[in-house]
Amino acid sequence: MNLPDRFRDEEHLEEVMSQPSPALVERMKSLDGDLIVLGIGGKMGVTLGRQAVRAIREAGVKKKVIGVSRFSDESARKKLEAVGLETISCDLLDRAAVSDLPRCANVLYMAGRKFGTSGDSALTWAMNTLVPSNVAEHFTKSRIVVFSTGNVYPLTPVVSGGATEATPVAPVGEYAQSALGREKIFSYHAARHGTPLAIFRLNYAIDMRYGVLYEIGKQVWNEQPVDVTMGHANVIWQGDANTQALLALGHCETPPNILNVTGPETLSVRWAAQNLGRLLGKEAKIVGREAENALLSNSAKATKLLGYPRVSLLTMLEWTADWIRSGGRDIGKPSHFEVRDGKF
Ligand SMILES: NC(=O)c1ccc[n+]([C@@H]2O[C@H](COP(=O)([O-])OP(=O)(O)OC[C@H]3O[C@@H](n4cnc5c(N)ncnc54)[C@H](OP(=O)(O)O)[C@@H]3O)[C@@H](O)[C@H]2O)c1
Repeated sequence: MNLPDRFRDEEHLEEVMSQPSPALVERMKSLDGDLIVLGIGGKMGVTLGRQAVRAIREAGVKKKVIGVSRFSDESARKKLEAVGLETISCDLLDRAAVSDLPRCANVLYMAGRKFGTSGDSALTWAMNTLVPSNVAEHFTKSRIVVFSTGNVYPLTPVVSGGATEATPVAPVGEYAQSALGREKIFSYHAARHGTPLAIFRLNYAIDMRYGVLYEIGKQVWNEQPVDVTMGHANVIWQGDANTQALLALGHCETPPNILNVTGPETLSVRWAAQNLGRLLGKEAKIVGREAENALLSNSAKATKLLGYPRVSLLTMLEWTADWIRSGGRDIGKPSHFEVRDGKF
């Protein structure tokens, strides 16, 4: 993979982020059927859809990739259509509308709601449990990769190496509880219909325009204090997370195959702030003291099945510093990785 030193602009970023891996191109050669991506209009979906189309083209096979969202951001729809996806505008809360969607063999389920939960938790529960029910009842004969989150686990000791798939779930706060609800509703329908699932418990995708490194870097750049109480996190390049989600179509099982997806490192927030400070020519103002536990996942199982990420942590740090220094766009959707009480 040819990685640039920096991104010229957002189109360059999205072009690099949507490069398919050789393993994904190979996978597309043997995968049967079309793909449908539900909730494609958000932070990850646009580059996931583009990567899928590129992998299919490079594989020299014919399949459709259909992107479904409400498309509250019309530019997302335009970008997807420009790179060769079909789009369908649909509110997935509307059961009748879901029942009209084409029943593709391969489903990536990306819709969800996190922020605003503290103000309207009923909508979060509806989004994270009713929508999965609508979808799982319609796509009973498909294989489904269900995006979920490492937030279903409790905070784990930093020295433990993070929660594994065998760690008992103990979600903190209503967003995390409803995300577990999403998994359980999918699993319930999958058990009734024999639908193969991969439950994709992701921790913190890194784009340039949002994400843990961007948030830390912005604080350092603006000479604001960096609180290190949530002292550790896991991150993965968004392009790699999307590659792994598409590869997970080959690992959908009954009962569901649970996969923790993130980078291999346990990132120290203090270390990241200091290194971003070095790259930005600023001194990081560290406040607080690292807690002994943090929201951490162990991705050893997924890494064995899906491969190591292609973009390294240091590369992500260098890109992030350059993006911030050159005034790259902030999409205004912080991860709030520092939250320890589950209130989003
Ligand atoms: N990004 C991360 O670091 C991260 C970490 C852990 C887990 N995840 C999970 O991974 C998934 C994808 O992440 P993301 O960051 O791309 O999420 P996102 O930005 O929240 O995107 C999800 C998209 O789903 C669409 N959607 C929401 N409600 C819908 C509805 N009723 N009908 C149709 N579409 C609807 C929305 O687009 P429209 O407005 O166009 O409908 C929304 O932008 C999410 O489920 C998220 O919880 C992400």
